[in-house]
Amino acid sequence: MVTVVKRRVAILISGRGSNMAALIAAAKSSDFPAEITVVISNKPDAAGLTKAKENGIATLVIDSAPFGKDRTAFEAALQAALDEREIELICLGGFMRLLTTAFVERWAGKMLNIHPSLLPSFRGLDPHGQALRAGVKISGATVHFVTPEMDAGPIVMQGAVAVRDDDTPDTLAARVLDIEHRIYPEALRLVANGDTHIDNEVCRTTVTGSPDDTLISPTTI
Ligand code: GAR
Repeated sequence: MVTVVKRRVAILISGRGSNMAALIAAAKSSDFPAEITVVISNKPDAAGLTKAKENGIATLVIDSAPFGKDRTAFEAALQAALDEREIELICLGGFMRLLTTAFVERWAGKMLNIHPSLLPSFRGLDPHGQALRAGVKISGATVHFVTPEMDAGPIVMQGAVAVRDDDTPDTLAARVLDIEHRIYPEALRLVANGDTHIDNEVCRTTVTGSPDDTLISPTTI
């Protein structure tokens, strides 16, 4: 029997935690190369905490409110918690607190984020509103390594959806969220397996499936 080495992963959340739940579900497979060691929230009332507990995952709240603008002190507490659990990789899943350059650099190449747009388009807040106002016909989601610049960093994986004329930010968000839940576990699998490398700030992967190479929108036939 082949023993799969499981990398120890912390998921950082601030809210709903649906991407967290997708990662937890994927990590239940015996052949998945990562285990979700802990879910850490900076908000005591994050709904994702309940979901994590229901799945038997250890949770921790490091409330960012008392730290105010002192991001360094908050991150010292966070780093201590990660060290204590021998965490190797971090996945941000709707973690809505900016991280300092020092913390990001400490975790360079070991911290992933998901953003609901095809980066580098539509960084920051309201990506779906931005996409609809720009009139793009295809949008999607991006898993990327975290770098000091927000919603930037080498792209590990993207998934796309067609944008419909009658989309609202909410309807587009719902379809993109389905894609998020598909690509985040697969991106983590690649990174945890060591199947990615950064080449001149671009993420390359040694693994290729058989991609469906085209997505055209709107379709006329
Ligand atoms: C997700 O759509 C994620 O892509 C987005 O927050 C949502 C969190 O939902 N992240 C960002 O916008 C980061 N810039 P979830 O808590 O259900 O995973």
